[in-house]
Amino acid sequence: MAASQIPQGANIIGAAVPRIDGPLKTTGTARYSLDRDFPNLAHAVAVQATIGKGRIRSLDASAAEKMPGVLAVLYHGKLKDVYRTFPRQQDGSMAETRPPFDDEKIYYWGQYVAAVVAETLEQARAAAQAIRIEYDAEAPDVRTDLGAGFEGKRESSWKRGDPDEALKAAAVVIDETYSTPVETHNPMEMHGTVAVWEGENVTLYDSSQGVVGHRTTMAEVLGVPRENVRTISRFIGSGFGGKLSPWPQATLAAAAARQVGRPVKLSVDRRMMFTGVGHRPRTQQRIRLGATADGKLTAIRHDFYTETSQLDDFVEHCGEQTPFIYSCPNLEVTTALVRRNVGTPAPMRGPGAVPGLFALESAIDELAVKLKMDPLELRYKNDAERDEGKNLPFSSRHLKECYQTGAEKIGWKDRTPAVGSMRRNGKVIGWGVAGASWAAARVPCTATFEFCTNGRVCVRCATQDIGTGTYTLFAQVAHEKTGVPLDRIDVFLGDTNLPDGPTSGGSMVTSAILPATAGAVSQATQRLLNIAAMTPESPFHGSHPDSLTVAEGRIVAKQGQPQVVGAAYHGSADVSAKGLPFEEVLRMANLSSVMGSGRNVPSFEDPKAKQYSLHSFGAHFAEVEWDAEIARLRVSRIFSIFDAGRIINKKAGANQILGAAIMGLGMSLMEETVYEPHTGQPINGSFADYLVPVCADLPDLDVTFLDYPDLIVNEYGARGIGEIGMAGVAPAIASAVYHATGVRVRELPIRIEDLLKSTVREA
Ligand code: MOS
Repeated sequence: MAASQIPQGANIIGAAVPRIDGPLKTTGTARYSLDRDFPNLAHAVAVQATIGKGRIRSLDASAAEKMPGVLAVLYHGKLKDVYRTFPRQQDGSMAETRPPFDDEKIYYWGQYVAAVVAETLEQARAAAQAIRIEYDAEAPDVRTDLGAGFEGKRESSWKRGDPDEALKAAAVVIDETYSTPVETHNPMEMHGTVAVWEGENVTLYDSSQGVVGHRTTMAEVLGVPRENVRTISRFIGSGFGGKLSPWPQATLAAAAARQVGRPVKLSVDRRMMFTGVGHRPRTQQRIRLGATADGKLTAIRHDFYTETSQLDDFVEHCGEQTPFIYSCPNLEVTTALVRRNVGTPAPMRGPGAVPGLFALESAIDELAVKLKMDPLELRYKNDAERDEGKNLPFSSRHLKECYQTGAEKIGWKDRTPAVGSMRRNGKVIGWGVAGASWAAARVPCTATFEFCTNGRVCVRCATQDIGTGTYTLFAQVAHEKTGVPLDRIDVFLGDTNLPDGPTSGGSMVTSAILPATAGAVSQATQRLLNIAAMTPESPFHGSHPDSLTVAEGRIVAKQGQPQVVGAAYHGSADVSAKGLPFEEVLRMANLSSVMGSGRNVPSFEDPKAKQYSLHSFGAHFAEVEWDAEIARLRVSRIFSIFDAGRIINKKAGANQILGAAIMGLGMSLMEETVYEPHTGQPINGSFADYLVPVCADLPDLDVTFLDYPDLIVNEYGARGIGEIGMAGVAPAIASAVYHATGVRVRELPIRIEDLLKSTVREA
């Protein structure tokens, strides 16, 4: 889109604005963390355990140490001064709390057991292969049945009424178990760290979704003061939860660099992405629903298992949406954490909600089938008007309208409910629907805004753009408030030297940065206007600052206010009509810049926001085509309708939902990390074997935003939209598959082997 076509001024909020960082990426000039190079840079390569459980009996590094270019071989006892971080629930703690090489025990296949630092990457790789390790191996536990051998404690996280009694009394009951597999994060940019020490200070170039938390954590790990650590992550080749916290490679790179006294680069390769940098854990969820004969829910029980590693307690909160998405008097959600010999899990796009809603929304569809009721009618009948979990009103909830809009778009009124009853072009068609929700909040954020004497303006915040359009949102606010064109707005992000900004996680950046940036611009503008009024050389000298404003990057008298009263100004013929460019006033006052800073009050400290349940909502309508004769299933269309508050950038926003819908398609039909039972090795740990959707797999995708501002969340009415787009995709597809084939798949991914059971034949 040409710059001239982007709506100007206040209309830029809500417009479809192309990313301001787009040209840097398409021309290859954007530098990602691992693109950094330094004189004297050394390369580290990690060595992974080849057993899934046991201990190192012996490690012989003598040959490796003698190889050309080798600077250090590190393993248990050789890595100096690395510490544990205090385990805490907030972002920023070490994801895998055990420091690398902490002992000789092996907890999962692929655990780092050694690292080589060498002059070149090739020398490091060659030496890594020359390390001889013998293990005492035990049988790892990578069983996929999470109930098997479970001896831990099941915890109740939500309870109201008496769901067990209500289930006994219910006219209709659904009692089914749903499973979702381990899914591996596969962003284009893999994890990696470049560590550069200068004396006691270290700069870490890491692919991070949260540089501020990363700095704190790495300071703890390295045992140095926080102010000695700087983390930089200017561009990120996406991170959907896997990069929220640092992983052991960051520790290895930073500690190795300190030990060898040289900058060190350590990258995680695609195979290593399947072990030591988090994954969405496997879940197994039993859902029990009770309803009256006319479809009013009377009971919901959601009892799930979620897998974690041997040493860390990562919980996939599958039941987070269950207490409030439907109205139901009797409900309980319970969690059981199951240990397996796998790496520590991590959040992945829509953590909890995505697998949780696969189970709950699939069960709702099964209930509709059993009641012979339209699945939309069933949802309307049980729509929640308030959050019955927290007993609070919703700040803004338009889920029903999402369903109605989607029904209109796909033509739901023509849907015939019988399995295999809809045909098109010689194929069986199935339609399914499911709802989505995700929490909103306004998290703390600070930002600065600066009018500079070179005629440019700058916005600064330490938050990072994980590829979702955050740079552009800052620029939109700066333009909205000042009228300075986008090509004169510089946005600096992703560096802990900048004012503290939020972790890019939980879809909470947009709602946080808007008020902080608006506050920074207002303060800078106020200062600029004061300077215009106070500077003797200024044509506005003597004006009341309140009579002035900034428009189109110029200082102008407000409409209806007394005109310029200041001393003669050589360009004054023009000034009263058009105002004066801000940089001219700065020059008159001999200022290099005028800065303002903004900070938002987080919603958890805002008495008004605390009176509401803050959530976004949405629905996906999926269509599948089933070619029974050749057992071929295609998802042909997905309509996604979202109520995510006011959308600030329709282009970046739609892009989020499209990407998330594609991730949902991968979850539904393709993705599953499979661990070899005897060794615990992810046997499909590569892009050759771990399937993700490619362009040829994509259906027609259609995104609609309802665009209702949520003014409880912030003055812009914007919530976040990243995570929610993935919620609801899998149950919509699974329900469409049932509608087409009569096969109900409760264990993802849906495979052709499942669908061969279909008795639906071509007409
Ligand atoms: Mo969020 S789990 O960082 O996509």
